Amino acid sequence: MSTILVTGGAGYIGSHTVLELLNAGHRVVVVDNLDNSSAESLRRVEALTGKTVEFHLLDLLDRGGLDLIFKRHRIDAVIHFAGLKAVGESTQQPLRYYHNNITGTLHLLEAMKAAGCKTLVFSSSATVYGDPERVPLTEGCALRTTNPYGATKLWIEGICRDLAKAESGWHILLLRYFNPVGAHESGRIGEDPQGIPNNLMPFIMQVAVGKREFLNIWGNDWATPDGTGVRDYIHVVDLAKGHLAALAKAPELPGATAINLGTGNGISVLDMWRAASAAVGRELPYRFAPRRPGDIAACYADASLAKNLLGWSAHYNVAQMCTDHWRWQQANPNGYSG
Ligand code: NAD
Ligand code: UFG
Repeated sequence: MSTILVTGGAGYIGSHTVLELLNAGHRVVVVDNLDNSSAESLRRVEALTGKTVEFHLLDLLDRGGLDLIFKRHRIDAVIHFAGLKAVGESTQQPLRYYHNNITGTLHLLEAMKAAGCKTLVFSSSATVYGDPERVPLTEGCALRTTNPYGATKLWIEGICRDLAKAESGWHILLLRYFNPVGAHESGRIGEDPQGIPNNLMPFIMQVAVGKREFLNIWGNDWATPDGTGVRDYIHVVDLAKGHLAALAKAPELPGATAINLGTGNGISVLDMWRAASAAVGRELPYRFAPRRPGDIAACYADASLAKNLLGWSAHYNVAQMCTDHWRWQQANPNGYSG
């Protein structure tokens, strides 16, 4: 049994990963400032697993507070989810994004180094590929970003690589997530976006519960098979399990290694709309609207490195992603605050 520190563990992907860690027998310490989440997610994780989470309300910008966490617990490894993630907001508040994501990560790395804990799994993103040079995307594809959020991911990847080059003993996995959707099969934990969702799946589901009138499909003139944007949607439970696989293999992977976590399947907006409509049991209303600024035609993973290095691949299909997301949304139309 290991003790894992999970930063941002109250959030969407974090809470699902905490659940899998507890079920696998790990001890879990969570730090989160609840900036974009609710501690209710962790209470539900505890109820689902029958195990306890050691929760600390802490901002990663509080360097001294982080040191205390490492003094209080013998942490074996860290999974670092904490960060701000809204692309549009990052273009309006770049300093907040750079400070929170990059300074927060620097503090974490400093605290880890001081404590002699050198195993880290970091939440990177397919956003580091920018407008992809080709699909499917392999980890060797060119890295470039078009917004401050993406830039923070790229900088943090670089910081981790430099650190692992400069000092021996680090095992850092930079997991590049594609498009996480879905929810735990219990319907008790899931994604709880604040305000109007930017992302496709939460928006569709809010149409399904009657909070939004119709889905805007941003463009039907992309160079894709049906003209709508193509992405690699991955079930959040698959993603969570990818973190356990990464932790298990980290000892064999010295340095800093970037790995895509996706399914390898390109799914269009219309494909997703069809699957969501089937899960909900009726045709959900939509209309075509102009392209969204900054969008790209297609982005999906070559998922073979994760299979080769971690022995992990995704299992859930789009129908299951929609069914599980719908179960959560239907039971919790107002997220955790309901
Ligand atoms: P989320 O917002 O639900 O979770 C992030 C958590 O971090 C939240 O609970 C938030 O309160 C916490 N947090 C933020 N700044 C903090 C700070 N300074 N100190 C302490 N806690 C802080 O987001 P998520 O969807 O679960 O994403 C988790 C990670 O995965 C993020 O780093 C995100 O950038 C990355 N990611 C997400 C997606 C996606 O589409 N959801 C895709 C690729 C990568
Ligand atoms: N879309 C719509 N209508 C909507 C929302 C989205 O048509 O209301 C379309 C988009 O145009 C795109 C697809 O659905 O074609 C997916 O859009 P999302 O906003 O759900 O996801 P993105 O791929 O644009 O971005 C996501 C995260 C980013 C991350 C990126 C790569 O939001 O943070 O994946 O990992 F950087």
